[in-house]
Amino acid sequence: MRIKLVVAHPRKNSLTFAVMNRFIDGLKENGHQIDVLDLYNDGFDALYSAEDEYEWKNPEKVFAPLVQKEMDRVIAADAFVFVFPIWWYNMPSIMKTYLDRVWNIGVFDTLAGKKVFWLALAGGTEAVFHKYDYTNMISHYLNNGIGKYARMEESKVEFLYDTLNESQEHINSLLEQAYLAGKVYA
Ligand SMILES: Cc1cc2nc3c(=O)[nH]c(=O)nc-3n(C[C@H](O)[C@H](O)[C@H](O)COP(=O)(O)O)c2cc1C
Repeated sequence: MRIKLVVAHPRKNSLTFAVMNRFIDGLKENGHQIDVLDLYNDGFDALYSAEDEYEWKNPEKVFAPLVQKEMDRVIAADAFVFVFPIWWYNMPSIMKTYLDRVWNIGVFDTLAGKKVFWLALAGGTEAVFHKYDYTNMISHYLNNGIGKYARMEESKVEFLYDTLNESQEHINSLLEQAYLAGKVYA
């Protein structure tokens, strides 16, 4: 499968990047093609502007070159993976703007039937996430508000909890979780 992986973290030495790399190690065992977009380090412009708006009366509209290039990468992919930290019980704003600008009406129809996987790092523990229903809240939004709304065939969320825990054993278990998620993907 051609997998488009989007990562949203400003620091390449972050746990988010380490998780992404282990996930990719797992993916590679099944010979998938992987196209990575590193939103911060590849200079994705995270400002939605008037020129990004879809024009219903002009389906031939030409988008900004950066947006058009990313739309072409979306069209070429069979599946999507997002690796990101939870910030304010949501995705980082740069990732949201990527969705706003690139997963626009222009490519919307090409998402139907494809798969999406959300790999989310959370500072909170699993117990707290369940106690306050954050796990369901975030999963429901991603799976229904995006996956189902875009008529995708499958949308799944996996959380890596307690990411600020400094125990090396715990961090290793999160990296192993990411590796296994990559290995069984698709
Ligand atoms: C701006 C900001 C907001 C955050 N909000 C949350 C949150 O709402 N819930 C949570 O569990 N963790 C939250 N965290 C903790 C991050 O999820 C945590 O820093 C991240 O998973 C650790 O991975 P990293 O080292 O790759 O950044 C927040 C962190 C930042 C910087």
